[in-house]
Amino acid sequence: MSDLIYARKNPQLIQTLLRRRSVPIKLLGDPGPTADELKTILSIGTRTPDHGKLFPWWFITFEGEKRARFGDALAVAWQKRDPQATPEKLDDERKRLMRVPLVIAVISSPRESTIPVWEQELSAGAVCQNILLAANALGYGANWLTNWYSFDDNIRALMNLRDHEKIAGFIYIGTPLTAPDERDRPDLAKLINSDFTDAQNRGNAYAKEGLGFVNKK
Ligand SMILES: Cc1cc2nc3c(=O)[nH]c(=O)nc-3n(C[C@H](O)[C@H](O)[C@H](O)COP(=O)(O)O)c2cc1C
Repeated sequence: MSDLIYARKNPQLIQTLLRRRSVPIKLLGDPGPTADELKTILSIGTRTPDHGKLFPWWFITFEGEKRARFGDALAVAWQKRDPQATPEKLDDERKRLMRVPLVIAVISSPRESTIPVWEQELSAGAVCQNILLAANALGYGANWLTNWYSFDDNIRALMNLRDHEKIAGFIYIGTPLTAPDERDRPDLAKLINSDFTDAQNRGNAYAKEGLGFVNKK
């Protein structure tokens, strides 16, 4: 008898998913996940659809003083981008990761394969989302950020990323100090296009109204 869960009614999980919310960094504090909890979070992260079983992602964890060391590198990299940066700005960069007890960087690392790189990169996004959900289910707040340093060549070099690798996100995790506000959510009806031949109109109402429609010809 398999212990896999693939179709089990779970109204509590449905309510959780319907109301899930990221927590702004300024509302996160100590404590962070324990070592066991971190293992659980990463295990759930890797339990993600992945075409071809390529495991095209890996992690860097930032806890304790590693957060400060990375922050020092952020300040140096920022100063290279902006030599006029104020001491306050550089100090903010130094403290960036210190704002929460745990940060997980998810690195998208597509393999040499017939599986399209796009599909492998999508899988890295699914890893990030699973990490958010796992952190929430353990009682932690989380926020998936990329920010400037995910795209900075000096930071990429520091992390020794290969050319084909990309940072899918830095997931900031901590204990919520207070409840976050809701953010705007889309009107589901406007996202659904029931006519699959309606390519010229690109379908949904938001597209027709010009909201979030970036592919206009
Ligand atoms: C790939 C990715 C990168 C993001 N990077 C940033 C960022 O750099 N800065 C930011 O303020 N929000 C960023 N966000 C948005 C935050 O995750 C945001 O808090 C979140 O989308 C809130 O929505 P939720 O409550 O439904 O999770 C990013 C989201 C994604 C998916």
